[in-house]
Amino acid sequence: MSRKISLAVATALLTVFAVSAAFAMGGGNARKGKFLYRKNCRSCHGSTASDLSPASKTQAEWKATFADKTKIKCSGDWTISDKDLNDIFTYLHDYASDSPSPAKCS
Ligand code: HEC
Repeated sequence: MSRKISLAVATALLTVFAVSAAFAMGGGNARKGKFLYRKNCRSCHGSTASDLSPASKTQAEWKATFADKTKIKCSGDWTISDKDLNDIFTYLHDYASDSPSPAKCS
């Protein structure tokens, strides 16, 4: 009986961890993200698409934008691992317009 309960609790905890791990963005490598952004995103952003750089949005706006990557208009145009995308997010977020050091990319 109590074993059943602890099993249920463990399962619930595991589910919460799995879900939060899948959706939590942040804590990535911003230096790598900058490189990955230049490599994967700059080809369009800055020429054929809007000139996006970290300072284009606030940290809250970047969070909202990356909360569901399938809602980013061009997400069908790239295949990037979640880890790499998290590095890109970290770069954009950490140098956002309301961050301590806003960055344009050039
Ligand atoms: C094949 C061209 C192309 C590539 C590559 C590309 N994008 Fe886009 N992206 C677009 C277009 C077109 C739009 C929609 C119109 C616009 O914003 O200019 C867009 C829109 C966006 C938006 C929404 C714009 C806004 O102001 O909210 C974000 C965020 C975005 N892209 C991020 C990225 C990221 C991150 C990458 C790299 C992983 C990337 N894009 C790579 C073409 C591209």
